[in-house]
Amino acid sequence: MAVYDEPSVTEENTVEAPPELRRALGPFQLIGIGIGIIIGAGIFVSTGTTAANFAGPSVMISYLIAGFGCALAGLCYAEFAAMIPVAGSAYSYTFATLGQFLAWVIGWDLILEYLAAASAVAVGWAGYFNGLMADLGIIIPEKFSSAPFIWKGGIDLVASGAVVNIPSAVLIGLLTVLLVIGIRASATFNGIMVLLKLTVVFLVIGFGLSHVQAANLTPFIPPNTGTWGAYGWSGIIRASGVVFFAYIGFDCVSAAAQESKNPQRNMPIGILGSLALCTVLYVLMCIVMTGVTKYTNLAVAQPVSVAVMAMGPGLDWLVKLTHLGATLGLGTVVLGLLLGQSRIFYAMSRDGMLPEVFGTVHPKFRTPYISTIGIGVVAAALSAFLPEDLLIEMVAIGTLAAFVLVCLSVIILRKTHPEVPRAFRTPLVPWVPIGGMLVCFGMMAGLPGATWIRFILWGAIGLVVYFLYARHHARTPSYALPRK
Ligand code: ALA
Repeated sequence: MAVYDEPSVTEENTVEAPPELRRALGPFQLIGIGIGIIIGAGIFVSTGTTAANFAGPSVMISYLIAGFGCALAGLCYAEFAAMIPVAGSAYSYTFATLGQFLAWVIGWDLILEYLAAASAVAVGWAGYFNGLMADLGIIIPEKFSSAPFIWKGGIDLVASGAVVNIPSAVLIGLLTVLLVIGIRASATFNGIMVLLKLTVVFLVIGFGLSHVQAANLTPFIPPNTGTWGAYGWSGIIRASGVVFFAYIGFDCVSAAAQESKNPQRNMPIGILGSLALCTVLYVLMCIVMTGVTKYTNLAVAQPVSVAVMAMGPGLDWLVKLTHLGATLGLGTVVLGLLLGQSRIFYAMSRDGMLPEVFGTVHPKFRTPYISTIGIGVVAAALSAFLPEDLLIEMVAIGTLAAFVLVCLSVIILRKTHPEVPRAFRTPLVPWVPIGGMLVCFGMMAGLPGATWIRFILWGAIGLVVYFLYARHHARTPSYALPRK
């Protein structure tokens, strides 16, 4: 059984939900799907850098804020997913309900969520892969295993002395080949990866809690340096926009709505369950990581390993297991994100929003190979040359913007199409969507001006493409609701 399955592609190049997956997933499988893609570079890397640069030990408050915003947005996703069970995630939901322009805006945004996130997680993966190789006695020179730029937070990128991040680009290349030939993570494989990741996280927490020193956690909220976002409460808000990245992937649970048994009951369990579990684990990881060593030591490529090493001698095996668990666990996250992006491009091309070539299916492998390869090339290039924190902030702002629109759409749809059956209904509308919009927008507002400028530029490019191409070619999909 496929875990994160693509729609089957027929001769006529139309999309059908895979019939064998209908109503097969129960609450535990849904939670497993969520955790499989949620736990990744966010907790394994960003916790360290955000604690070191923005929030100190109070990064755990940032995790709570981000988790709360995701839970509210997740409930809105679930309503859409159960109402319009088609491939393409938020892009398709929006096209079906609010028309092509907003669908384009979201589709364009989702490139940040999936493609750029795949690059960011691949960079995080490379850090732990280098550690794993070092455990095996193979030293990959830093020059060829990290980005040639360091992002200092403004609009400037400073040369780091490195040339290119080869491991991350190679990972994306290999995963792209797997996706082209149609290999996907099976439920069993996904289950093993989830268990491995969870084992590492549980062990780090289990061993770490007894090594926490109050001195490292004091001051819990380091005083603001005078710059917005550098510690203090503004640092907590800024960090929440970044660690939000660690929760991305729960929307993949909503994408499984049509394959879920009793979605009315199981979707909220899957979405909220995976979010709640991850939130608890993330907060505990924050306590351990910032409690066993001073947060200023965590601005490295493998902060979890640094934290384990700080717990004292005798835990070398846990450092090695962390390298192994992160390498395998983060790899599957990249695979899921690349697959998600190709699925969205496929849907966009089917609707005429992107040229047909994006939906061209390989005659033998039956996969949308051209877009898969294109996505792989761009993602590999981004991961080879850009630092992870810059990528993560772009992913965060783009995804948050998509979440805001999804929340808004739930409110609009309840007014315009109250009669459409909803297998799952977001509770307390309009309050839950309004809350989701406010928290998500608050996190966006906490991100720095430079990230906003890049995001606005990205949006402007998207508008140009829309008016030059998509607007003239878009076709309303058959699943669209009548416009009111
Ligand atoms: N939530 C995923 C991660 O942290 C994207 O890697």
